Amino acid sequence: MNSPRHIAIIMDGNGRWAQQRGFKRIKGHERGAEVVREITTYCANHPEIEVLTLYAFSTENWKRPKMEVEFLMKLLDNWLKKELATYQKENVRFEVIGDISRFTPALQERIRLTKEATKDNDRLTQVLALNYGGRDEIIRACRRACEAKKEITEENFEEFFDAQIGDVDMLIRTGGEKRISNFLLWRIAYAELFFTNTYWPDFTPQELETLIEEFKGRNRRFGAI
Ligand code: IPE
Ligand code: IPE
Ligand code: MG
Repeated sequence: MNSPRHIAIIMDGNGRWAQQRGFKRIKGHERGAEVVREITTYCANHPEIEVLTLYAFSTENWKRPKMEVEFLMKLLDNWLKKELATYQKENVRFEVIGDISRFTPALQERIRLTKEATKDNDRLTQVLALNYGGRDEIIRACRRACEAKKEITEENFEEFFDAQIGDVDMLIRTGGEKRISNFLLWRIAYAELFFTNTYWPDFTPQELETLIEEFKGRNRRFGAI
């Protein structure tokens, strides 16, 4: 009956949620951002959950129309500005994985400031995966290890990642697709996988709770018997 320490979510289905309602895709991203707050607050109020990692923008998402990419960047900037109050209220530390060097200097600065302002919060760590690719993360980690002239082992490899957040216990993908889309490749080696057809803007703390109950019923053997 173990609870998940680290939950990771591929927040998919924003565009389809909006289109189904006759809205532009960006409406789905707006509603999706509110769900991020609801799910983060839920996790912050469940002490057994220590890390919540959310896939917000992939290294592949640059292929989207320029307008949508620009909207997502703006949304992120506004979000961080506005949500600092929530991070402080819920005692949440903000962390980032991904190569943010491709973002505008202003957005990079906003990310830095948010991390700095929340660095002593210790109830929950919320990790946003931004310009994140699992392969990119592994390659960059290998480069760092080479530069430091350090040998890589299974135990120390994570040291070279952008953030040390540990292995994922529970990986959830909303939106109906059953794929990993280059998310957290190293850390999901033994994660329990959950796929729900619910579009991210419709995902609720109640559904998360139901999935966590299912997680607790799973028999994790890690290769043993
Ligand atoms: C996920 O929703 C959010 C991001 C990738 C930023 P999508 O935008 O992929 O929504 P669908 O999958 O097209 O419905
Ligand atoms: C994965 O969703 C990336 C994020 C949720 C940020 P996508 O919608 O980009 O993935 P694919 O295209 O279905 O693989
Ligand atoms: Mg999608």
